[in-house]
Amino acid sequence: MAIYEVTGGNRLHGEVTISGAKNAAVAILPAAILVGGKCRVENVPDISDVRILIDILRSMGVGITQPEPNVVELDSSELTQLEAPAELVRKMRASYYLMGALLSRYHKAKVALPGGCNFASRPIDQHLKGFRLLGAQVEETEEYVNLTEGEFGLCGNRISLDVVSVGATVNIMMAATLLPGQTVIENAAKEPHIVDLANFLNTMGARITGAGTDTVKIRGVERLQGGTYTIIPDQIEAGTYLAAVAAAGGDVLVKNVIPKHMECITSKLAEMGARITNFDDAIRIQSTGKLHDTTVKTRPYPGFPTDMQAQICVCMTLAKGVSKLTESVYETRFFGYCTELQNMGADIIINGKTAIVTGQEKLRGAEVSAKDLRAGAALIIAGLAAEGITRVRNIHFVERGYENIIEKMTSIGADIRRIEE
Ligand code: EPZ
Repeated sequence: MAIYEVTGGNRLHGEVTISGAKNAAVAILPAAILVGGKCRVENVPDISDVRILIDILRSMGVGITQPEPNVVELDSSELTQLEAPAELVRKMRASYYLMGALLSRYHKAKVALPGGCNFASRPIDQHLKGFRLLGAQVEETEEYVNLTEGEFGLCGNRISLDVVSVGATVNIMMAATLLPGQTVIENAAKEPHIVDLANFLNTMGARITGAGTDTVKIRGVERLQGGTYTIIPDQIEAGTYLAAVAAAGGDVLVKNVIPKHMECITSKLAEMGARITNFDDAIRIQSTGKLHDTTVKTRPYPGFPTDMQAQICVCMTLAKGVSKLTESVYETRFFGYCTELQNMGADIIINGKTAIVTGQEKLRGAEVSAKDLRAGAALIIAGLAAEGITRVRNIHFVERGYENIIEKMTSIGADIRRIEE
């Protein structure tokens, strides 16, 4: 079993380049099914979620080549199979985006219910509400969702989401793309990866407006044509490296970012005492001594992202004073990593959706286990800042979403190794 062995104490220096956004890639690759021809996607992160998705699409008859690193060329002219292999689908949550893509192009879809990070209940009722309002018949069992064309056919509609959901916004956007009529998604999520998907689809000939606002309009088109699209940088990967420097100390230039997507993260780290300098497509972070306490409440974009909750919590465990961290998206996310941090000497008291974190002089290395993708990233950060050696297990979670994390971390001076135990 592979683990990460982290020896703490090194300050971090140098430059690190951010990869393409995982949550954009896992939406854009299934969306290639809508193209019905060839398209080329660049800046695709080489992570296990993407590799699984490529295997799924290939198994359905999508022609896929990878002519160079981080480039994927897809030909969805002729799918040979409209049902993805359940054992692959269950390996990653975003497989459910196949529902929207298949429904739009083939007016039917049968997709096994997904897996993915299990830090909270991950319902899909809003996705299914959208499909029903577009005219689909929805059959949902424990194992799969089966969508077929309802008696009145499929067409655009007005859909008001009961909760701000990234997945539902993405899935409904895809489902509406090739349907007749206009669809309006109200109370839509505004994350950068939603805008990225809309931009990809519009590049291929879709007519989507309002992505990035809470009202997205999709005018259905007959078909899409091919094209080339470059995925945006991953703001959560970038935020993870910023948090690592804030916690372990140092001076690092994080390259290939869109600073606007990072505003909530960088302003919070600056509030804690890190020096942040924004460039056009890079951010420099310099630690200026001990961090100090702050208050964070996670919110859908443009608020502080829930996917940075664990990473900022590590910074809080080492900051002077008492910090408050409130989770508003997934209330049980704390349980993915707080116990592990407590084993490393952190003082964290969880009370419902809020954690009270009292900063400590230092953390000590320990044997810890990742329980989800971002929890694993946080434990690496804690290990970098701790005294002694930290061994992180269940690193497959981390490798779902962080391309070349060992190479990137060692390139800025971290003492981290991937070893078989
Ligand atoms: C996406 O998950 C991301 N995953 C998550 O990132 C991220 O944490 C989350 O958005 C929030 O930003 C991908 O993009 C692949 P939601 P998703 O639908 O789409 C409730 C990572 O670390 N909800 O926005 O599943 C839900 O329970 C991963 O990269 C419903 O009630 O999140 C949650 O409380 C982890 N019904 C809230 O909405 C639904 O039908 C937000 O969920 C859908 C969601």
